[in-house]
Amino acid sequence: MLEQLKTERLILRPLRPADARPLAEIADNWNIARMLARLPHPYELSDAEEWIALQPERRRSGTEFCYGVTLDDRLIGSCGTLNLDDGSYELGYWIGEPWWNRGYATEASRAVIAQTAETFGPDRIVAGHFADNHASGRVLTKLGFRYTGEEKRWSLARNEHVHALRMVLKQEAKAGRNAA
Ligand SMILES: CC(C)(COP(=O)(O)OP(=O)(O)OC[C@H]1O[C@@H](n2cnc3c(N)ncnc32)[C@H](O)[C@@H]1OP(=O)(O)O)[C@@H](O)C(=O)NCCC(=O)NCCS
Repeated sequence: MLEQLKTERLILRPLRPADARPLAEIADNWNIARMLARLPHPYELSDAEEWIALQPERRRSGTEFCYGVTLDDRLIGSCGTLNLDDGSYELGYWIGEPWWNRGYATEASRAVIAQTAETFGPDRIVAGHFADNHASGRVLTKLGFRYTGEEKRWSLARNEHVHALRMVLKQEAKAGRNAA
């Protein structure tokens, strides 16, 4: 996976120690945490520092490729893939609430999907969202994912299992014919 990805409006790059403060500021938000499996809430500076410190080894080992999403040099979110036990790559993302509904999650994810497909092949890209997360469902549908099933998935912030929907990238999207 490339270290840096550029899109029309965004630069995606590995998180740095200096990102800890802005990361903690924007991620300490219930509206974000409740839609994610793994984000603690409240989200402290120490959570951000620990998360950032883990990333180089996770990237080296191929466990996870997490990019900071930046707009005009400002951190606005995160997007990346997690290598699951079955060998598939699960897309994940969040965007700070002040920047919602401007297409940034879709734009960042499209770049990560293209890079993941180029690096690992296009056949193993999956995603999912909690059933009450309609915005994420819309993002994934726009990106060319289709629904494959449902499950109960743990949410750290909600501290409970939540009804979740599983998705996989459609064949025509992999071939670049579904660039919504
Ligand atoms: C989900 C999330 C990443 C979307 O980020 P974003 O940058 O606003 O996404 P985009 O602007 O690319 O697309 C959002 C789409 O959802 C739509 N949308 C927003 N709120 C919606 C709602 N309540 N119901 C249905 N659609 C909704 C928008 O209209 C837009 O679709 P459109 O382009 O057809 O108009 C952002 O809301 C977020 O970070 N949420 C919390 C964390 C999260 O849910 N992460 C994903 C976990 S699976």
